[in-house]
Amino acid sequence: MSLIKEAEVYLNDILKSLNYEGIAVRLEVSSKREFGQYQFNGAMQLAKRYGKNPREIAEEIASKIDKYFENINIQGPGFINLTFKNEVLIEHLNKGINDFDIFVDKGEKTKKIVLDYGGANIAKELHVGHLRCNIGEAVRRLIKLFKDESIGDVHWGDWGTPIGLVIREIQENNPELPYFDENYTGPYPEISPVTSEDLGIYYPRASKRSKEDEKYAEEARILTEKFQKGVPGIRALWRHIVNVSKEDCNKIYDYLNCKFDYSYGESDADSYVDETLEFLKSKGVTEVSDGALIMHVKEDDDKKEMPPLILVKSNGSIGYDTTDLATILQRMKDFNPDGIWYFVDERQNLHFEQIFRACKKSGLVPEDFDFRFNGFGTINGPDGKPFKTRDGGVMSLKGLIKLVYDTIEPKIKDDIVGEERIDVANKLTVATLKFSDLLPNRETDYIFDVDKFTSFEGKTGIYVVYTTTRIKSLINKIGDNTSEIKLIPNEEILNILVKITELPRTLTSCYREVNLSYICEFLYELCSLYNKFYTNFNIMNESDEEIKASYIGVSRLVYNILHNLLDTLGIDEVEKM
Ligand code: ARG
Repeated sequence: MSLIKEAEVYLNDILKSLNYEGIAVRLEVSSKREFGQYQFNGAMQLAKRYGKNPREIAEEIASKIDKYFENINIQGPGFINLTFKNEVLIEHLNKGINDFDIFVDKGEKTKKIVLDYGGANIAKELHVGHLRCNIGEAVRRLIKLFKDESIGDVHWGDWGTPIGLVIREIQENNPELPYFDENYTGPYPEISPVTSEDLGIYYPRASKRSKEDEKYAEEARILTEKFQKGVPGIRALWRHIVNVSKEDCNKIYDYLNCKFDYSYGESDADSYVDETLEFLKSKGVTEVSDGALIMHVKEDDDKKEMPPLILVKSNGSIGYDTTDLATILQRMKDFNPDGIWYFVDERQNLHFEQIFRACKKSGLVPEDFDFRFNGFGTINGPDGKPFKTRDGGVMSLKGLIKLVYDTIEPKIKDDIVGEERIDVANKLTVATLKFSDLLPNRETDYIFDVDKFTSFEGKTGIYVVYTTTRIKSLINKIGDNTSEIKLIPNEEILNILVKITELPRTLTSCYREVNLSYICEFLYELCSLYNKFYTNFNIMNESDEEIKASYIGVSRLVYNILHNLLDTLGIDEVEKM
């Protein structure tokens, strides 16, 4: 249990002993440090509840506090200011040097959450927006930290028209391929007739042509239907495209340290579609409208428009609504989770609201199921508009990675050369991309400012990694892996330790609100406090043994925290930079 939680439990016991009930004890970080590190403001609430003077209640409570805190004083109408005793901070935080778990306040019961993130569309190149798969990945790691169970699924968009378009384009260029010969009985070639470079050319070309040429678009649609229905040649070609495209995307996901437990896609939900439709029909929640099967999810108090879900279109085909419902049925059967959290572009908000309503209304999931749509904002270019390359084209994720790499590489020390230089540049590139992507509030759009994001100063991934590297090499240089904090010799060290007491709260908020921003801010603040200490004191030359040991102990503590938090964000450290 964290120190803050322990202290709150202690205060709660005091309230109980005074027969005060009905409020949740919560310590607040004090804004006026001259009065204390933390504040307890419950006296005002209790005063209302019990019709008493808040100051009197505060005095009653304060007089009972004889553990954890010192310097207890009351300000204003009844704010109780509290300062941790040094020995309490030292004893508790020394445990955190090797054990990060003391900073994580686990929930009472373990939950199992399916995470749906990544979601790349097969046959199309990953664009800048796909960088945001970082959010889902970080949440996957955060869930592990809290000892809950996470099941990460990339949910490929592998069942739609983009692939039909690419097949149509292949047909245009190589009509002689056996895939298009209806009399061919197989087996089909094992080697793909298209490479990932081909896909990069075919998809944009086909997409453009389909907008100008109606016949071509219709042919692509028919091809889509064919691979969906399992026509052997077209299905075989579909499989090749899926494999080539996945391999390409996976390289980038790997580069970004994004891992998935399952590599399912929309196509895997296909075999659950009939069952899903039967289920919905049996619940009497569907209806036929203009030849289509639909489901209303409107509620009386809706303030915005809430269109029905289209389950089966009038031409007999199914779309995004139905694959998402079938995927949920599949996940319920395979994993029986407590919730499914989606990490998708904010603009899909309405779609997911419809889906969540449909699942609860029909009983596909239990009433208290933890569905969450964790929408994210758009990444814009320096002009505040969707990110473009210098020649005006759409910026691919590969292009963005290269832009960051090329900006960072020259900033690395000259004596780091060869393979190692490349490795360091890659790690710093990922650190930059992740930190800047996780720092803003999830839902907000942000401008990708490559110069700002690759700076050694300010709230950047490089600044945090740099500080971490600095501490690690200091500890290695001293060669001391056992020293612990013995005393708090100065204000700088005290500030670091107090900041660290706030970490469990930060992690809990981060998890509850699914907002990694809090970790990024915390990392920045902790690094700033450590660097202030590092510049003001010479650790190596400290002659007092106890003080020196304490400096090393604090450094080891800060290192352990930075290391674990960076890992949660999916950022690797470097040995030097
Ligand atoms: N492939 C989708 C897209 O690019 C994202 C998938 C999100 N997940 C889901 N279950 N619908 O828009």
